[in-house]
Amino acid sequence: MAIGYQSQRPSSASGNSSTQPGPKGPAVIDVRNVHRIYESEAGYVHALKGVSLQVARGEFLCIMGPSGSGKSTLMNLLGCLDTPTSGTYLLEGLDISQLTDDELAELRATRLGFVFQSFNLLPRATVLRNVILPLTYTDLPAGDRMERAVKALTSVGLPATYFDHRSNELSGGQMQRVAIARALVNEPAVILADEPTGNLDSATGEMVLKTFARLRDEGRTIVLITHDPEVCAWGDRTMHIRDGRLLSDEEERAVVAAHGGTGRGLT
Ligand SMILES: Nc1ncnc2c1ncn2[C@@H]1O[C@H](COP(=O)(O)OP(=O)(O)OP(=O)(O)O)[C@@H](O)[C@H]1O
Ligand SMILES: [Mg+2]
Repeated sequence: MAIGYQSQRPSSASGNSSTQPGPKGPAVIDVRNVHRIYESEAGYVHALKGVSLQVARGEFLCIMGPSGSGKSTLMNLLGCLDTPTSGTYLLEGLDISQLTDDELAELRATRLGFVFQSFNLLPRATVLRNVILPLTYTDLPAGDRMERAVKALTSVGLPATYFDHRSNELSGGQMQRVAIARALVNEPAVILADEPTGNLDSATGEMVLKTFARLRDEGRTIVLITHDPEVCAWGDRTMHIRDGRLLSDEEERAVVAAHGGTGRGLT
């Protein structure tokens, strides 16, 4: 699969322009009227109800929403781990509904980087080994793999003295930076982060968010999911998700105001 990767930041992606309706640059992520309905023994759950979302190359988007609102469902779709019941998802212009399971797996391995709340590192493997791992199935020579891993670790600000440490010998913030380096090593089009600061204290979380902000400044596209409004201050734009529907900042404020200004009791 030959998908071009251009590292360009849109002019709209400076500062927290969360009031802007959408990105100005070319959309890397283009979701159109997507529905996701789960079928279970208990019945149908309409988890996404007509979601449309465009994310520009070089944009840092935060998506915030309460428990059960559809965040993981949306992230699974963006990460090509799941497909919509209806609607379209174009990733770098490619309609993912047209791809086979093997092609989707290749897309995930080469164009997407994942960062999780619980880091998901191999605890007894060294930092370098953890970061090289996603390159195992590429045809890159060993020397190039090492070079890529060192570059990724350097870009997240991890000192070289830690490269040979086992990952279980690191602090939470260091572990998360290794996980971000691992997500970066394939030079993906998009980094998807699900509550990446959820297991970190606020100072360490800030260090990780600074890392994301710097990667955005280098032209990376980031979609980050969080419960925490303070985390969203680091992004260029915030979208809210409630009961399977995406809302802009303005729409969210109107919904909260209509419920007495607290948003309590809303899903
Ligand atoms: N595999 C599934 N089968 C049936 N229903 C599901 C499934 N996965 C999620 N749901 C339902 O879809 C809705 C959205 O779930 P989702 O996991 O996307 O929420 P979330 O916003 O990630 O919540 P949290 O913050 O608690 O992780 C919920 O009502 C949930 O019960
Ligand atoms: Mg979830």
